[in-house]
Amino acid sequence: MEIRLFDNYLNVDNEYLCNSISLVIDTFRATTVLITALYNGAKYIIPVEEIEEALLLKDINHNLVIGGERKALKIPGFDLDNSPLSYRKDIIEGKAVAITTTNGTRALKVALKSKRIFPIALINAKYTIEYLIKHVFNSHHITKLAIICAGNEKRLTLEDVLTGGYIVKILKENLNEDIVFDDFSILAEDLYDRYKNNPKDILSKARHFKNLIDAGFENDIKFCLNIDSIDCVCEYKDLKVEKVK
Ligand code: MLT
Repeated sequence: MEIRLFDNYLNVDNEYLCNSISLVIDTFRATTVLITALYNGAKYIIPVEEIEEALLLKDINHNLVIGGERKALKIPGFDLDNSPLSYRKDIIEGKAVAITTTNGTRALKVALKSKRIFPIALINAKYTIEYLIKHVFNSHHITKLAIICAGNEKRLTLEDVLTGGYIVKILKENLNEDIVFDDFSILAEDLYDRYKNNPKDILSKARHFKNLIDAGFENDIKFCLNIDSIDCVCEYKDLKVEKVK
């Protein structure tokens, strides 16, 4: 298996993606939100790039919950923001949701070129990799895996790299075959190993971490860094994200 980690959704190698399974990471906070919403019973989630698309979908279906952010804050006219803590069971159970965010939902769209796409975050990384090894890699004769960091505003973000490093580590420990990692995967795993016991030591220096703290989302950060806290696996397929385990 060949594994490549991409630092930003704009820096992917399209040719590589076409033959790959993709994992899309937006630790703060888009993929954490998708996973949490589906775990709490949302029927499915439609990621959209533009605010207008979400509003249009809501016009067509008034029962649709629309959520997301611009500059980390709730969008006027939307039902929910982009905090995983907002997607509570009592609010979204049984509901269809559409979400637009600055980077995460765009990264998912870029991944559409791949064979299959799994949004992933620190909260469900181990469960997703276990699922892939058991149900996906063998059945598709997959030889390439793309791990795509959404990044933030077209740049690398440390929280996504750290998550990428954790994913690399789990793959190494569990995938029973030869693996060829690219240099960025090796770097990310090293970063994860150094900071796994206290990720805030490095993340507190990071741009998006600081933005979220300034906007009052300290509890979101705590939630997003809670490794393997949610046993839920999600797949993006036919333009919807759904829970597959
Ligand atoms: C994004 O997609 O850019 C993020 O999820 C931003 C955020 O933290 O709300």
